[in-house]
Amino acid sequence: MTTLADFIQGLPKIELHLHIEGTLEPELLFKLAERNNIQLKYDSVDELKQAYKFSNLQEFLDLYYEGANVLREEQDFYDLTWAYLLKCKDEHVVRTEIFFDPQTHTDRGILFATVINGINRALQDGREKLAISSELILCFLRHLDEQSAFNTLKEALDYKDLIVGVGLDSSEKGNPPSKFERVFAKAREEGFLTVAHAGEEGPAANVKDSIDLLKVFRIDHGIAAINDEFLIADLVQKQIPLTVCPLSNLALKAVNNLKDHPLKKLMDHGVLVTINSDDPAYFGGYMNENFRASAEALNLSKADLCQLVRNAVMASLLPEQEKERHYHAIEQYCCENA
Ligand code: HPA
Ligand code: ZN
Repeated sequence: MTTLADFIQGLPKIELHLHIEGTLEPELLFKLAERNNIQLKYDSVDELKQAYKFSNLQEFLDLYYEGANVLREEQDFYDLTWAYLLKCKDEHVVRTEIFFDPQTHTDRGILFATVINGINRALQDGREKLAISSELILCFLRHLDEQSAFNTLKEALDYKDLIVGVGLDSSEKGNPPSKFERVFAKAREEGFLTVAHAGEEGPAANVKDSIDLLKVFRIDHGIAAINDEFLIADLVQKQIPLTVCPLSNLALKAVNNLKDHPLKKLMDHGVLVTINSDDPAYFGGYMNENFRASAEALNLSKADLCQLVRNAVMASLLPEQEKERHYHAIEQYCCENA
């Protein structure tokens, strides 16, 4: 008899909602600050960890952007990404489609090339040395203006072979999908796929508008959909996946208790729900801990967990043949460990 934690550890998992800047562990943050001669506001790793208590998305974002300030050189972005990939290997995450936030860095004078070359070199090493497949999605910061997003898109055109799609993150309140309708139209014209954070702190209408105006193929978070039965029906009918991040929602008080999280209800409605870690260095858990905490709080069965990883295959950008290989591996694992 394997424990549920062992079962989760061995499940071949796919991550679809992960901000690479959100994997910056306090220990690496201190190491990079020292390497780059940056004076931090905190005296120790412990003191920094103490600051990781949030009452909403904005309080987290303020610290997250401050933390990213230690990332200066291409090697810093490599080290950040490589540390995350080693974590994936440890946790049996076999595929990851990650976000990066170029404006967080270019606004500080770091070159777009420095950021993407460091991340990409680590992803390439991850493919070759760790057998972890990956894709890169550029997120526009929605608290910045449309022109800044257009400028960023223009820079991305030189790296089309490394970037599969564009997304939208940062402060959802006051920055609706309509603000980026024209940038997303241009991005699609240039061949990028689109995703968007929506319904994390904002209303279900942001999920609907992301689908209608931004033509997204996936919604990041999307938990507010639980408040709109017509939207739920639409998500099911169109098979638009939600990349749900339970520990993030708990840490940022989108839910007060994991037992109140709508993940299982959405699943039972037939929505293509997946489990992801978002910003694991800040929210206290990578993939396995998100699965484990959700399973415990929501009484998820092994069959539910298998469904969640199958959903992630379906929701991923893997080519059809690769999807089949992943379904097969999951079926085999779930049969052998039922
Ligand atoms: N929400 C919005 N923006 C973000 C997040 C998030 O959870 N993480 C990093 N940027
Ligand atoms: Zn996110």
